[in-house]
Amino acid sequence: MPRSYVIAIASEKGGVGKTTLATNLAIYLKGLAEDLPVTLFSFDNHFTVDQMFQLGKTSSTHNVSELFTGSNPADLLSNGQYGVDYIQSSRNLFELQHQVKSIDQLAQNISRSTLSGLIIIDTSPILDIYTRNALYAADRVIVPIKDAPSLENCRNLADFLAQNNRSKTVLKLLPCLIDTRIHFDGPFRNSYQLLKAYAINRGYRCFEGFIAKSPKVESLSTNPSGKIYPVITHGRNTEVHLQLTHLARQVYLDYLEQGPMRLKEVSNELFDQEEQFAQEYKSRLNNLQPSCLCCDAQIPRDEIWPNAYFLENSTGNFSGFIEEDCFFELLLQDCYPELNSREQQKLLQEILVGSANRSLLLLQKTQVNSEQAQIDLFRLDQHGEKISGRSILLKKRGRFQRQGKMSLLHLFNQAAKGQEKYFQQLLIRQTDKNPLNILQHHNYLEWQTIFNRIQVDHQLDTEAG
Ligand SMILES: Nc1ncnc2c1ncn2[C@@H]1O[C@H](COP(=O)(O)OP(=O)(O)OP(=O)(O)O)[C@@H](O)[C@H]1O
Ligand SMILES: [Mg+2]
Repeated sequence: MPRSYVIAIASEKGGVGKTTLATNLAIYLKGLAEDLPVTLFSFDNHFTVDQMFQLGKTSSTHNVSELFTGSNPADLLSNGQYGVDYIQSSRNLFELQHQVKSIDQLAQNISRSTLSGLIIIDTSPILDIYTRNALYAADRVIVPIKDAPSLENCRNLADFLAQNNRSKTVLKLLPCLIDTRIHFDGPFRNSYQLLKAYAINRGYRCFEGFIAKSPKVESLSTNPSGKIYPVITHGRNTEVHLQLTHLARQVYLDYLEQGPMRLKEVSNELFDQEEQFAQEYKSRLNNLQPSCLCCDAQIPRDEIWPNAYFLENSTGNFSGFIEEDCFFELLLQDCYPELNSREQQKLLQEILVGSANRSLLLLQKTQVNSEQAQIDLFRLDQHGEKISGRSILLKKRGRFQRQGKMSLLHLFNQAAKGQEKYFQQLLIRQTDKNPLNILQHHNYLEWQTIFNRIQVDHQLDTEAG
């Protein structure tokens, strides 16, 4: 894995100088370490990065939203001015939030890619899923603070890091937009010293120095060319130029002194996790009944097996597949005994098959006495909410047992693994073409979540009843 060091610029306070800092710091860092790739992108909804770095008029077809779609981040880069690579901004991040499923998606995606060097992420002033992804991936989080409220806001960033087992030292605060004309009496002579004292008092680390408020710097984003100029080219005679130079040196030293890189850590965790998922998959596979629960058809491994249904009991210690025809024969015989003509049965089967890919079936058995059991059959939506249901009484010595055929009671007995159970639940769903896909981590997790919810609902119903 290539060595990369991620710097996120974050603050929940708006207008503290995050974007100005991220864009300019990228250029100063590139100046310090010419051989090191420097990549910049922003999760804010404006186009400052593009306005400062775009070379010529042609823009790329890629943008930052693709960092969450499985694209290789290295393929999204545009070569920008001042030797900085950047990823184009996107106006649609808010609408696309749903594609970001977890806070580690960005870190995992970059850790799998060939992107290397310094990666600088400008964030929006909201602790949304994009900011959280940036924080999760970061080796260093730079927090510009310009006043006491922006310092108070650091707490949420520190809490987020703590929740993810990261040290508070990942955060480093930087007083920004400091008006150097203001002086106080007493031990802290200006707002920089006061802010730094507050920050240290609250256990935060700070960079040496600050970034002053400068009318010249402010004017760099508004000019007739429509471009945004960096301090290094258009504000060289300001104190901010010296302050950014000093800051870049400190950031670069931190990079050189950094122990294990964050993305390396993430990639090791990912490797361990994938190992664990593979083990869990294997044990689910071993637990699986080897052939159709009704007939002897063998389950093909890693092959297409259309029209199969996956079934599991609520303890997860019994699972298997049933072929579609076997399954509906079982249902129609036991749950719809009133349909005795073949045509009626066929019609109902067609209706049930038609709705099967959008729903799940829950079979519940409640033992009434030693001779009889009540079977409740529920159709559920994809979230496990009941849509419809029917109840029937089944006798232990029903006609199907006598004919030596499989019956629902047999199935429940098999799932109980020889134990007498008063109450049992079986959850059933149609599989996709490769039936074993349901045992893969994410699919199985979803399945378990639904099953757990059904059991909680049942518990609540029982308590209420
Ligand atoms: N050192 C500075 N001196 C004067 N003005 C500055 C300085 N740094 C930034 N500004 C100005 O302050 C305003 C806010 O800066 P910037 O956009 O960088 O903040 P931000 O934290 O990214 O804001 P947001 O939270 O809205 O994304 C801008 O108009 C910018 O030009
Ligand atoms: Mg900004």
